[in-house]
Amino acid sequence: MIQNITDLLNEVSFFSVKDSEELELFRLKYLSKKGLLSDLFEEFKNVPASQKKEVGQKLNLLKQNALEKYNSLKTDLQNKEVSADGTDLTRPSFPYSTGSRHPISIVRNELIDIFTRIGFTVSEGPEIEDDDHVFTKLNFAPEHPARDMQDTFYISRISSEDSSPEDILLRTHTSSVQVRVMQNQKPPIRTISPGRVFRNEAISARAHCIFHQVEGLYIDENVSFADLKQTLLFFARELFGKDTDIRLRPSYFPFTEPSAEMDVSCTICSGKGCKVCKYTGWLEILGCGMVHPNVLEACNIDSKKYTGFAFGMGIERAAMLKYGVNDLRLYFENDLRFLDQFKTAF
Ligand code: PHE
Repeated sequence: MIQNITDLLNEVSFFSVKDSEELELFRLKYLSKKGLLSDLFEEFKNVPASQKKEVGQKLNLLKQNALEKYNSLKTDLQNKEVSADGTDLTRPSFPYSTGSRHPISIVRNELIDIFTRIGFTVSEGPEIEDDDHVFTKLNFAPEHPARDMQDTFYISRISSEDSSPEDILLRTHTSSVQVRVMQNQKPPIRTISPGRVFRNEAISARAHCIFHQVEGLYIDENVSFADLKQTLLFFARELFGKDTDIRLRPSYFPFTEPSAEMDVSCTICSGKGCKVCKYTGWLEILGCGMVHPNVLEACNIDSKKYTGFAFGMGIERAAMLKYGVNDLRLYFENDLRFLDQFKTAF
Protein backbone atom coordinates (compact mmCIF):
# COMPACT_ATOMS: atom_id res chain seq x y z
CA MET A 1 0.00 0.00 0.00
CA ILE A 2 2.89 2.34 0.82
CA GLN A 3 4.23 1.87 -2.71
CA ASN A 4 0.83 2.55 -4.18
CA ILE A 5 0.50 5.81 -2.23
CA THR A 6 4.04 6.89 -3.22
CA ASP A 7 3.21 6.32 -6.91
CA LEU A 8 0.03 8.33 -6.55
CA LEU A 9 1.89 11.19 -4.81
CA ASN A 10 4.14 11.36 -7.84
CA GLU A 11 1.27 11.23 -10.25
CA VAL A 12 -0.53 14.03 -8.44
CA SER A 13 2.48 16.29 -8.39
CA PHE A 14 3.00 15.99 -12.17
CA PHE A 15 -0.66 16.18 -13.09
CA SER A 16 -1.62 18.92 -15.49
CA VAL A 17 -4.92 19.79 -17.16
CA LYS A 18 -5.87 21.60 -20.33
CA ASP A 19 -9.41 22.55 -19.50
CA SER A 20 -12.14 22.32 -16.92
CA GLU A 21 -13.27 18.90 -18.21
CA GLU A 22 -9.87 17.41 -17.43
CA LEU A 23 -9.93 19.11 -14.06
CA GLU A 24 -13.25 17.43 -13.33
CA LEU A 25 -11.70 14.05 -14.28
CA PHE A 26 -8.92 14.74 -11.80
CA ARG A 27 -11.50 15.47 -9.09
CA LEU A 28 -13.45 12.32 -9.87
CA LYS A 29 -10.33 10.18 -9.91
CA TYR A 30 -8.88 11.35 -6.59
CA LEU A 31 -11.30 13.34 -4.55
CA SER A 32 -14.85 12.16 -5.19
CA LYS A 33 -16.72 9.75 -2.94
CA LYS A 34 -15.88 6.88 -5.27
CA GLY A 35 -12.37 8.15 -5.94
CA LEU A 36 -8.97 6.67 -5.11
CA LEU A 37 -8.58 8.49 -1.80
CA SER A 38 -11.79 7.21 -0.42
CA ASP A 39 -10.83 3.64 -1.51
CA LEU A 40 -7.47 4.04 0.21
CA PHE A 41 -9.02 5.25 3.44
CA GLU A 42 -11.30 2.20 3.29
CA GLU A 43 -8.29 -0.02 2.78
CA PHE A 44 -6.48 1.79 5.63
CA LYS A 45 -8.88 0.18 8.10
CA ASN A 46 -7.24 -3.17 7.40
CA VAL A 47 -3.65 -2.00 7.77
CA PRO A 48 -1.88 -3.83 10.64
CA ALA A 49 -1.49 -1.65 13.73
CA SER A 50 2.29 -1.66 13.43
CA GLN A 51 2.11 0.09 10.03
CA LYS A 52 -0.81 2.40 10.76
CA LYS A 53 1.31 5.40 11.71
CA GLU A 54 3.52 5.38 8.62
CA VAL A 55 0.74 4.57 6.17
CA GLY A 56 -1.61 7.07 7.84
CA GLN A 57 0.89 9.90 7.50
CA LYS A 58 1.52 9.13 3.80
CA LEU A 59 -2.16 8.85 3.10
CA ASN A 60 -2.90 12.19 4.74
CA LEU A 61 -0.10 13.76 2.73
CA LEU A 62 -1.62 12.39 -0.46
CA LYS A 63 -5.01 13.78 0.47
CA GLN A 64 -3.55 17.20 1.23
CA ASN A 65 -1.47 17.30 -1.96
CA ALA A 66 -4.38 16.20 -4.11
CA LEU A 67 -6.59 18.94 -2.65
CA GLU A 68 -3.93 21.59 -3.09
CA LYS A 69 -3.26 20.45 -6.63
CA TYR A 70 -6.94 20.59 -7.45
CA ASN A 71 -7.25 24.16 -6.14
CA SER A 72 -4.14 25.41 -7.86
CA LEU A 73 -5.14 23.81 -11.19
CA LYS A 74 -8.51 25.47 -10.83
CA THR A 75 -7.11 28.98 -10.26
CA ASP A 76 -4.63 28.47 -13.10
CA LEU A 77 -7.50 27.64 -15.41
CA GLN A 78 -9.55 30.62 -14.29
CA ASN A 79 -6.60 32.92 -14.88
CA LYS A 80 -6.02 31.47 -18.30
CA GLU A 81 -9.59 31.83 -19.46
CA VAL A 82 -9.55 32.59 -23.16
CA SER A 83 -12.35 33.91 -25.28
CA ALA A 84 -13.86 31.95 -28.19
CA ASP A 85 -11.42 33.39 -30.72
CA GLY A 86 -8.44 32.44 -28.59
CA THR A 87 -7.73 35.91 -27.21
CA ASP A 88 -6.33 35.81 -23.71
CA LEU A 89 -8.65 38.13 -21.87
CA THR A 90 -6.48 38.18 -18.79
CA ARG A 91 -3.45 39.67 -20.52
CA PRO A 92 -2.52 43.06 -19.12
CA SER A 93 -3.77 45.78 -21.46
CA PHE A 94 -1.57 48.27 -23.27
CA PRO A 95 -1.64 51.58 -21.38
CA TYR A 96 -3.51 54.10 -23.52
CA SER A 97 -3.97 57.74 -22.95
CA THR A 98 -7.43 58.89 -21.92
CA GLY A 99 -8.65 62.37 -22.73
CA SER A 100 -9.21 65.10 -20.20
CA ARG A 101 -11.92 67.67 -19.76
CA HIS A 102 -11.13 71.16 -20.95
CA PRO A 103 -10.27 73.42 -17.99
CA ILE A 104 -13.13 75.75 -18.91
CA SER A 105 -15.57 72.82 -18.70
CA ILE A 106 -14.04 71.73 -15.40
CA VAL A 107 -14.48 75.16 -13.83
CA ARG A 108 -17.93 75.68 -15.39
CA ASN A 109 -19.09 72.35 -13.93
CA GLU A 110 -17.63 73.27 -10.58
CA LEU A 111 -19.43 76.63 -10.59
CA ILE A 112 -22.69 74.93 -11.52
CA ASP A 113 -22.13 72.44 -8.73
CA ILE A 114 -21.46 75.14 -6.13
CA PHE A 115 -24.54 77.22 -6.99
CA THR A 116 -26.96 74.33 -7.48
CA ARG A 117 -26.03 73.17 -3.98
CA ILE A 118 -27.50 76.38 -2.57
CA GLY A 119 -30.68 76.23 -4.61
CA PHE A 120 -29.84 77.89 -7.94
CA THR A 121 -31.19 76.39 -11.16
CA VAL A 122 -29.32 76.51 -14.49
CA SER A 123 -30.81 78.51 -17.39
CA GLU A 124 -29.62 78.75 -20.95
CA GLY A 125 -30.48 81.07 -23.81
CA PRO A 126 -29.52 81.89 -27.40
CA GLU A 127 -26.05 83.13 -28.35
CA ILE A 128 -27.54 85.13 -31.21
CA GLU A 129 -29.69 87.70 -29.44
CA ASP A 130 -31.50 90.95 -30.02
CA ASP A 131 -30.53 94.33 -28.61
CA ASP A 132 -33.65 94.30 -26.45
CA HIS A 133 -32.49 91.35 -24.30
CA VAL A 134 -28.80 92.24 -24.25
CA PHE A 135 -29.10 95.99 -23.66
CA THR A 136 -32.47 97.76 -23.68
CA LYS A 137 -34.22 95.72 -20.99
CA LEU A 138 -31.06 95.91 -18.90
CA ASN A 139 -31.33 99.69 -18.61
CA PHE A 140 -28.59 100.57 -21.08
CA ALA A 141 -29.20 104.10 -22.26
CA PRO A 142 -29.47 104.30 -26.09
CA GLU A 143 -26.10 106.02 -26.31
CA HIS A 144 -24.29 103.70 -23.88
CA PRO A 145 -20.77 102.96 -25.19
CA ALA A 146 -21.13 99.18 -24.69
CA ARG A 147 -23.61 99.17 -27.57
CA ASP A 148 -20.94 100.61 -29.79
CA MET A 149 -19.64 98.60 -32.70
CA GLN A 150 -16.30 98.27 -30.91
CA ASP A 151 -17.75 95.96 -28.30
CA THR A 152 -20.59 94.23 -30.04
CA PHE A 153 -20.62 91.95 -33.04
CA TYR A 154 -23.74 92.93 -34.93
CA ILE A 155 -25.41 90.53 -37.30
CA SER A 156 -28.00 92.95 -38.60
CA ARG A 157 -28.89 96.51 -37.67
CA ILE A 158 -32.09 98.39 -38.35
CA SER A 159 -30.27 101.71 -38.70
CA SER A 160 -26.60 102.44 -39.19
CA GLU A 161 -26.85 105.49 -36.95
CA ASP A 162 -28.84 104.48 -33.88
CA SER A 163 -29.26 101.22 -32.08
CA SER A 164 -32.68 99.64 -32.01
CA PRO A 165 -34.14 96.93 -29.74
CA GLU A 166 -34.61 94.78 -32.86
CA ASP A 167 -30.96 94.79 -33.86
CA ILE A 168 -29.58 91.25 -34.02
CA LEU A 169 -26.19 90.60 -32.43
CA LEU A 170 -23.98 88.11 -30.64
CA ARG A 171 -24.66 88.41 -26.93
CA THR A 172 -21.93 90.26 -25.04
CA HIS A 173 -22.95 88.80 -21.66
CA THR A 174 -25.33 86.10 -20.41
CA SER A 175 -27.40 88.72 -18.55
CA SER A 176 -29.65 88.36 -21.61
CA VAL A 177 -30.61 84.88 -20.36
CA GLN A 178 -31.65 86.41 -17.06
CA VAL A 179 -33.93 88.86 -18.87
CA ARG A 180 -35.58 85.89 -20.56
CA VAL A 181 -35.98 84.11 -17.21
CA MET A 182 -37.52 87.22 -15.59
CA GLN A 183 -39.93 87.57 -18.51
CA ASN A 184 -41.05 83.96 -18.25
CA GLN A 185 -40.98 83.12 -14.54
CA LYS A 186 -42.48 84.60 -11.43
CA PRO A 187 -40.30 85.30 -8.37
CA PRO A 188 -38.82 83.73 -6.37
CA ILE A 189 -36.15 83.30 -9.04
CA ARG A 190 -32.78 81.82 -8.25
CA THR A 191 -30.82 80.88 -11.34
CA ILE A 192 -27.40 80.93 -12.94
CA SER A 193 -26.72 81.16 -16.65
CA PRO A 194 -23.47 79.70 -17.94
CA GLY A 195 -22.63 80.28 -21.57
CA ARG A 196 -20.47 81.63 -24.36
CA VAL A 197 -20.29 85.36 -25.00
CA PHE A 198 -18.72 87.51 -27.70
CA ARG A 199 -17.03 90.88 -27.68
CA ASN A 200 -15.26 92.70 -30.41
CA GLU A 201 -11.88 92.92 -28.68
CA ALA A 202 -8.33 92.45 -29.89
CA ILE A 203 -7.00 89.05 -28.81
CA SER A 204 -4.27 89.26 -26.16
CA ALA A 205 -3.11 87.44 -23.03
CA ARG A 206 -5.90 89.15 -21.09
CA ALA A 207 -8.73 89.48 -23.62
CA HIS A 208 -10.43 87.37 -26.27
CA CYS A 209 -13.34 87.93 -28.60
CA ILE A 210 -15.01 84.74 -27.36
CA PHE A 211 -15.18 83.77 -23.71
CA HIS A 212 -17.47 82.14 -21.19
CA GLN A 213 -19.48 83.53 -18.34
CA VAL A 214 -21.56 82.37 -15.44
CA GLU A 215 -24.03 84.98 -14.30
CA GLY A 216 -26.38 84.64 -11.34
CA LEU A 217 -29.74 86.15 -10.44
CA TYR A 218 -31.76 85.98 -7.23
CA ILE A 219 -35.11 87.73 -6.95
CA ASP A 220 -37.53 87.46 -4.05
CA GLU A 221 -39.09 89.61 -1.36
CA ASN A 222 -36.55 91.21 0.99
CA VAL A 223 -33.40 90.15 -0.84
CA SER A 224 -30.63 92.39 0.47
CA PHE A 225 -27.04 93.30 -0.28
CA ALA A 226 -26.07 91.15 2.73
CA ASP A 227 -27.55 88.10 0.93
CA LEU A 228 -25.44 88.94 -2.11
CA LYS A 229 -22.28 89.26 -0.05
CA GLN A 230 -22.87 86.05 1.86
CA THR A 231 -23.64 84.10 -1.32
CA LEU A 232 -20.46 85.35 -2.97
CA LEU A 233 -18.33 84.62 0.08
CA PHE A 234 -19.67 81.06 0.08
CA PHE A 235 -18.92 80.73 -3.63
CA ALA A 236 -15.37 82.12 -3.30
CA ARG A 237 -14.49 79.74 -0.46
CA GLU A 238 -15.91 76.76 -2.31
CA LEU A 239 -13.96 77.53 -5.49
CA PHE A 240 -10.67 78.85 -4.09
CA GLY A 241 -10.49 77.29 -0.62
CA LYS A 242 -11.90 77.94 2.83
CA ASP A 243 -9.35 80.59 3.81
CA THR A 244 -10.27 82.85 0.90
CA ASP A 245 -11.39 86.39 1.75
CA ILE A 246 -13.45 88.70 -0.44
CA ARG A 247 -13.79 92.45 -0.73
CA LEU A 248 -16.34 94.52 -2.59
CA ARG A 249 -15.43 97.77 -4.33
CA PRO A 250 -18.07 100.24 -5.57
CA SER A 251 -18.55 100.06 -9.32
CA TYR A 252 -21.07 100.85 -12.04
CA PHE A 253 -23.30 98.70 -14.24
CA PRO A 254 -26.46 100.07 -15.86
CA PHE A 255 -28.51 97.09 -14.64
CA THR A 256 -27.52 97.11 -10.97
CA GLU A 257 -27.70 99.76 -8.27
CA PRO A 258 -25.67 99.79 -6.11
CA SER A 259 -23.01 97.93 -8.10
CA ALA A 260 -19.74 96.44 -6.96
CA GLU A 261 -16.74 94.56 -8.17
CA MET A 262 -15.54 91.68 -6.09
CA ASP A 263 -11.93 90.73 -5.40
CA VAL A 264 -10.71 87.52 -3.79
CA SER A 265 -7.57 87.29 -1.70
CA CYS A 266 -4.71 86.31 -4.02
CA THR A 267 -4.76 82.58 -4.71
CA ILE A 268 -0.98 82.54 -5.13
CA CYS A 269 0.31 84.50 -2.11
CA SER A 270 -2.84 84.34 0.11
CA GLY A 271 -2.94 88.11 0.31
CA LYS A 272 0.70 88.80 1.20
CA GLY A 273 1.44 90.41 -2.14
CA CYS A 274 3.11 88.91 -5.24
CA LYS A 275 3.59 89.48 -8.96
CA VAL A 276 0.24 87.91 -9.89
CA CYS A 277 -1.79 90.27 -7.66
CA LYS A 278 0.58 93.14 -8.46
CA TYR A 279 1.47 93.30 -4.76
CA THR A 280 -2.07 94.28 -3.76
CA GLY A 281 -3.00 90.89 -2.26
CA TRP A 282 -6.29 90.94 -4.20
CA LEU A 283 -7.51 89.59 -7.54
CA GLU A 284 -10.57 90.90 -9.36
CA ILE A 285 -13.06 88.14 -10.11
CA LEU A 286 -16.58 89.40 -10.76
CA GLY A 287 -19.13 92.18 -11.07
CA CYS A 288 -22.32 92.28 -9.01
CA GLY A 289 -25.03 94.43 -7.52
CA MET A 290 -28.69 94.83 -6.62
CA VAL A 291 -30.91 94.50 -9.69
CA HIS A 292 -31.94 97.98 -10.85
CA PRO A 293 -35.69 98.63 -10.37
CA ASN A 294 -35.88 99.70 -14.04
CA VAL A 295 -34.76 96.20 -15.04
CA LEU A 296 -37.39 94.52 -12.86
CA GLU A 297 -40.11 96.79 -14.25
CA ALA A 298 -38.97 96.22 -17.85
CA CYS A 299 -39.47 92.50 -17.23
CA ASN A 300 -42.89 92.98 -15.57
CA ILE A 301 -41.70 92.31 -12.02
CA ASP A 302 -43.10 94.60 -9.32
CA SER A 303 -40.05 96.49 -8.04
CA LYS A 304 -41.96 97.67 -4.94
CA LYS A 305 -42.55 94.10 -3.84
CA TYR A 306 -39.41 92.38 -5.05
CA THR A 307 -35.71 93.04 -4.86
CA GLY A 308 -32.85 90.97 -6.19
CA PHE A 309 -29.17 90.65 -6.70
CA ALA A 310 -27.13 89.68 -9.75
CA PHE A 311 -23.53 88.82 -10.39
CA GLY A 312 -21.46 87.77 -13.37
CA MET A 313 -18.00 86.41 -13.93
CA GLY A 314 -15.77 85.18 -16.72
CA ILE A 315 -15.04 81.45 -16.47
CA GLU A 316 -11.65 81.92 -18.15
CA ARG A 317 -10.73 84.46 -15.48
CA ALA A 318 -11.87 82.17 -12.64
CA ALA A 319 -9.91 79.29 -14.20
CA MET A 320 -6.80 81.46 -14.61
CA LEU A 321 -6.88 82.33 -10.92
CA LYS A 322 -7.61 78.79 -9.86
CA TYR A 323 -4.92 77.15 -11.97
CA GLY A 324 -2.38 79.99 -12.16
CA VAL A 325 -2.66 80.29 -15.97
CA ASN A 326 -1.36 83.63 -17.19
CA ASP A 327 -2.42 83.70 -20.84
CA LEU A 328 -6.08 83.51 -21.84
CA ARG A 329 -5.20 82.35 -25.36
CA LEU A 330 -4.08 78.96 -24.02
CA TYR A 331 -7.72 78.06 -23.45
CA PHE A 332 -8.51 78.40 -27.14
CA GLU A 333 -5.46 76.88 -28.79
CA ASN A 334 -6.13 73.29 -27.67
CA ASP A 335 -2.45 72.49 -27.36
CA LEU A 336 -2.35 68.99 -25.90
CA ARG A 337 0.66 69.85 -23.75
CA PHE A 338 -1.57 72.37 -21.99
CA LEU A 339 -4.75 70.27 -21.87
CA ASP A 340 -2.93 67.15 -20.66
CA GLN A 341 -2.16 68.93 -17.42
CA PHE A 342 -5.83 68.83 -16.43
CA LYS A 343 -6.09 65.05 -16.61
CA THR A 344 -6.41 64.53 -12.88
CA ALA A 345 -9.02 67.25 -12.47
CA PHE A 346 -12.59 66.38 -13.39
N1 PHE B 1 -22.96 91.43 -17.15
C1 PHE B 1 -21.77 91.93 -16.52
C2 PHE B 1 -20.59 91.73 -17.48
O1 PHE B 1 -20.72 91.04 -18.45
C3 PHE B 1 -21.46 91.25 -15.22
C4 PHE B 1 -22.47 91.54 -14.17
C5 PHE B 1 -23.58 90.75 -14.03
C6 PHE B 1 -22.32 92.64 -13.33
C7 PHE B 1 -24.52 91.00 -13.07
C8 PHE B 1 -23.24 92.89 -12.37
C9 PHE B 1 -24.34 92.10 -12.23
O2 PHE B 1 -19.53 92.25 -17.28
